[in-house]
Amino acid sequence: MTTPNAPHIPWWKDAIVYQIYPRSFQDSNGDGIGDLRGIIRRLDYLKRLGVDVLWLSPIFASPNDDNGYDISDYRAIMSEFGTMADFDELLREVHARGLKLMLDLVVNHTSDEHPWFVESRADPRSDKRDYYIWRKGRNGQPPTRWQSYFSGSVWEKDERSGEYYLHLFSRKQPDLNWENPRVRREVHDMMRFWLDKGVDGWRMDTINMLSKHPDFPEGRPLPGTNLTDGQPHFLNGPRIHEFLQEMHREVLSHYDVMTVGETPGVSPAESALYCGFERGELNMVFHFEHVFLGDDAAERGKWSNPPLTLPAIKRVLASWQTGLHGRGWNSLYWDNHDQPRAVSRFGHDREYRVESAKLLCTVLLFMQGTPYIYQGQELGMTNVSFESIDHYKDIETLNAYKMLRDEHGWDDARILASVHARGRDNARTPMHWSGGANAGFTEGTPWIALNPNYPDINAEAAEADPNSVWHHYRDTIALRKSLPVVRDGTFTLLDAEHPTVFSYVRQDAHTRVLVVGHFCDRPGVYRIPSEFVDGEVLSNNYPTQELAQELQLRPYQALVIRARRKS
Ligand code: NOJ
Repeated sequence: MTTPNAPHIPWWKDAIVYQIYPRSFQDSNGDGIGDLRGIIRRLDYLKRLGVDVLWLSPIFASPNDDNGYDISDYRAIMSEFGTMADFDELLREVHARGLKLMLDLVVNHTSDEHPWFVESRADPRSDKRDYYIWRKGRNGQPPTRWQSYFSGSVWEKDERSGEYYLHLFSRKQPDLNWENPRVRREVHDMMRFWLDKGVDGWRMDTINMLSKHPDFPEGRPLPGTNLTDGQPHFLNGPRIHEFLQEMHREVLSHYDVMTVGETPGVSPAESALYCGFERGELNMVFHFEHVFLGDDAAERGKWSNPPLTLPAIKRVLASWQTGLHGRGWNSLYWDNHDQPRAVSRFGHDREYRVESAKLLCTVLLFMQGTPYIYQGQELGMTNVSFESIDHYKDIETLNAYKMLRDEHGWDDARILASVHARGRDNARTPMHWSGGANAGFTEGTPWIALNPNYPDINAEAAEADPNSVWHHYRDTIALRKSLPVVRDGTFTLLDAEHPTVFSYVRQDAHTRVLVVGHFCDRPGVYRIPSEFVDGEVLSNNYPTQELAQELQLRPYQALVIRARRKS
């Protein structure tokens, strides 16, 4: 029954998103690469899990320098993934199950094999020249010494014209020139093409990089290199909100879709400019403050892999919870295709793998915002430690390997330790469907080696075991949906400095819920607020629990307790 005058709640506030990295999800034709028909085959599995929206990492034509984040045709399907007919069928099958489909909008850059760039490079007088960012050098040097995210300079010299083009990522990913209104119109048209097919939303790649400082000032020097950190001059640049408001006005406002922008280097206050309810830009953003904690560009960024502390993680997450409450909307995630597996990084991937994977699920899903689950997270999939760099495929990892070895003198063991901890291929090994050959991912040779632990960790075994991580995800999703306080309530962090317990209260006019997560491989005791001592345990990753003010906690235990209503 709907209440008259009830506030309109957009559907994406109740949604759980599941991210698919199509290359590694399910192969259907034996070529060792996941594909669209493979995804169709697994839709019932996703429906059983209880998710609502599928986000596909890029599925468009691409030479795969960066696994599809380098697009050569925005209106064609990558041949390894299938055809447009396969896509249309996938969309129909998704909708037939009451699910929604979100695509990846990669428009900060294209592939250098996109016809726009081919023409832009071939002919400085072509009308495509100004689709990209071309500059003359200074005294035979590139215009700036900014470092690319994939190592080396962001500028590549084109020998024919003698000019340099900008690429914040690989040299095969030239940046589009968003100052050019024709570029913006092309992007809008392309977005309509997919939305008119019935696509339900966009995840927007590095969307806060579209507007560069027009003067291209030099960045801060990066010690030990001759490069600089240019991020202050292209993150959240001068025209970014104008571009996004235009995109909203011209395209998004005409469809009932959801949007999430990838925005590295954004604080809660800045994010409210992107996702504030009244802004007419995006519904939510992905921030990186918890996953990049302590990573310092001047210290080789994530490759130095500084130690994490729980109070620091809590501080960050709490600042987003309270900073956006009532103003904008949070996205909630631990894992994605660029991050190591959360159970290995924030949990315990050996004897407490199951408990800690469940704990990460509980503490994430009870916060306010839209949760994102990355393929395999629901199984507690772990990082992989390939013994040689030759097994790795990711361009960021391979370029960093050369840079760390040649420019910083790191030895092989030190680099591999970093790659094992932080490399992107940790998340990109194939999905584990069964304990059979190649984990049921392919009948051919997988494009990247599997994690050898798939006989123990796989979907078939997990669905059959009521105590698995998978069942905990399914139950927690269902529980979350039954409790409006999780969507709407306030968030209060308790005991911010406690070194091993992450606990918070969610509260609305009717309900108060306490979440307690014990990030430790030893038992502990934690004093809970008295109103929860006679409460009701709604979720627990151990079989039983005696409630007491001095709560006895087992290793990596996570509990959700609802306070009794006072009559
Ligand atoms: C962010 C994407 O998530 C990542 O995988 C990609 O390499 C870069 N953007 C460049 O598109």
